[in-house]
Order: sequence, then C-alpha cells, then structure tokens
Amino acid sequence: MSQMEHVKLGFIGYGNMAGATAAGLMLSGAVQPAQIFACAKDYDKLCKKAASQGIHLCQTAEEVAAACDIVFIGVKPYMVKEVMEPLADALRGKVVVSLAANTYHDVLSAILPDAHCVATAPNTPVSACEGIFICEEDNSLTEDEKVLISELLGHLGLFLWMDQAHMGIAGAIAGCSPAFVSMFMEALGDAGCKHGLTRPVVYKLIAQMLVGTGKMALKSGDHPGQMKDAVCSPSGTTICGVEALEKNGFRFAIMDAIDQVQKKASGK
Ligand SMILES: NC(=O)c1ccc[n+]([C@@H]2O[C@H](COP(=O)([O-])OP(=O)(O)OC[C@H]3O[C@@H](n4cnc5c(N)ncnc54)[C@H](OP(=O)(O)O)[C@@H]3O)[C@@H](O)[C@H]2O)c1
Repeated sequence: MSQMEHVKLGFIGYGNMAGATAAGLMLSGAVQPAQIFACAKDYDKLCKKAASQGIHLCQTAEEVAAACDIVFIGVKPYMVKEVMEPLADALRGKVVVSLAANTYHDVLSAILPDAHCVATAPNTPVSACEGIFICEEDNSLTEDEKVLISELLGHLGLFLWMDQAHMGIAGAIAGCSPAFVSMFMEALGDAGCKHGLTRPVVYKLIAQMLVGTGKMALKSGDHPGQMKDAVCSPSGTTICGVEALEKNGFRFAIMDAIDQVQKKASGK
C-alpha cells in the first residue's frame, strides 16, 4: 500500500461519475484528499461543488495532467477526443483511466498514443464503496500498473477485467441500472406513502431491503428465481404481487430498457 500513499490522482471532468469515484476512494481511506486534483469546464461551479472536500481544484486540464500520476477521464464520451488530445504530450508515460462509456482502448490509444490507457465501465455506487469497476482487458498498462489499478479501484466494490466484446452490456447493466433501481425505489416509496408510511421511513426500508437482497444473493449464490420462491408462500400475499408484476410486464420492461440502452450505445 505504500505506493498508494504517494500517488497523485487527477480527474479531468468532475461530474457525477468522477465525483463518485473520488468520493469512494477518499471514503475507503485508499487516498487522502490532498492526493486528488480535479478540473471541470466551469471552475466556479467546481469550487462550489468540491471546495469542502479538501482536494486540489485546478483551473485547467493541463494543470491536472502535469500534477498527477494517474488521470481519470470524467467527461462525456463525445468530448473525450476534444478534451484529451491536447494533453497527449503531458500524459506521455502516465496512467490514464477512462470513465467514459463505450470508449475503448483502441479509441483511447489513438488519442493518447504514449499514455498507458485503460477503459472502464464503472457505476455511481462506488461513492459508497459498493460499486463496480469493470476494466478492459485490452489496455496499455504495464503489469505493475495493472496491479496498482486493481488495488486502487478494488477499494470501491467489485473489480473485474473484461474483454471489449462484453464491456458494453456489462457497463449497461452496472452503470445504467442504478437509475432503473432508483425508479423502482421511488415507485415502492409512492406505494408505501399511499398506504400510510412517511417518506423517510419508507425510503430507509427500501434501501436496506435492496442492500440485504443483494448481499444475500452474493453470499448464497442462489438463483434469483429461488430467492423469489423463498418469499412466496402457497396462497400467500407475495405471490399476488408477483402475479401483478407479471401482468404489467415487469420483466419485459427491464429487458426492454437494456435493449434500448444497447440500441442507443450502438448508434442505431
Ligand atoms: N453518471 C453515471 O452513472 C456514469 C456511469 C458510467 C460511466 N459514466 C461516464 O462518466 C463520464 C461522465 O459522466 P457524468 O454522468 O459524470 O457526467 P457529468 O456529471 O455531466 O460530468 C461531466 C464533467 O465533465 C466536465 N467537463 C465538460 N467539458 C469539460 C472540459 N472541456 N474540460 C474539463 N472538464 C469538462 C463537466 O464540467 P462542468 O460541470 O463545469 O460543465 C463535468 O464536471 C461519461 O463519459 C459517462 O459515460 C457515467
């Protein structure tokens, strides 16, 4: 871990995903705020958002690139080339971790030919150290850098290496589903409210129920159908809810949502 104490991490773009990554790394204790440098398009907005975090707030991406050993790309995918290409010399020999969706190693290495690049598919629960970081197997990291990155990002939850062919769908399931699950939480919250629970109580119940169901699945390795059956007693109440969900196309709606994500990502 001694290497981690001295490493300087830069974030070019400090929005939802980059902010979540930095927050998780600080929460885990893997790095201290003074090891983090960040810039965004609007410096004043960045100051408002991050002044209390104790990280270094930079006016330009050049400052971040010069100061850091590992640089995260936190801008939208369509901006990666425009923002990163001018930094190609400054990032020579440095580690660059892209957070940008569907922006893989072939694209990154064309933009930053002399940097050591790796593409990832993360999700925002990394801010609570319960997230996912999927890294593309095809990358230009050295063996030591691969170890360093897996150790660093391993603090944020599940860490996986994956081939490019599966990065898109894995990234969609890991990265987009927090939005879908939040909609599910909101709907359950409305149902709880309709039946008399206060919002603070119902949201706490829902969040803990999701954490518990996820932990139970990880611990037991049980099939989700088996977990559902374990809650549905014959002629019971839960099976009536299951029937209503089936009638309303619950499972189709979820598969269709992922289809739509994939369709959009492929530009069709
Ligand atoms: N959000 C997610 O759940 C999620 C999940 C997986 C992957 N990702 C990936 O993460 C990346 C960022 O997404 P996001 O949701 O975090 O977006 P976001 O919240 O809109 O953040 C984008 C950031 O980029 C900054 N930026 C824009 N132009 C810039 C420039 N020229 N130089 C430096 N910074 C600039 C913005 O600064 P201003 O705020 O000042 O404009 C902002 O800090 C995307 O590539 C996305 O595919 C996101």
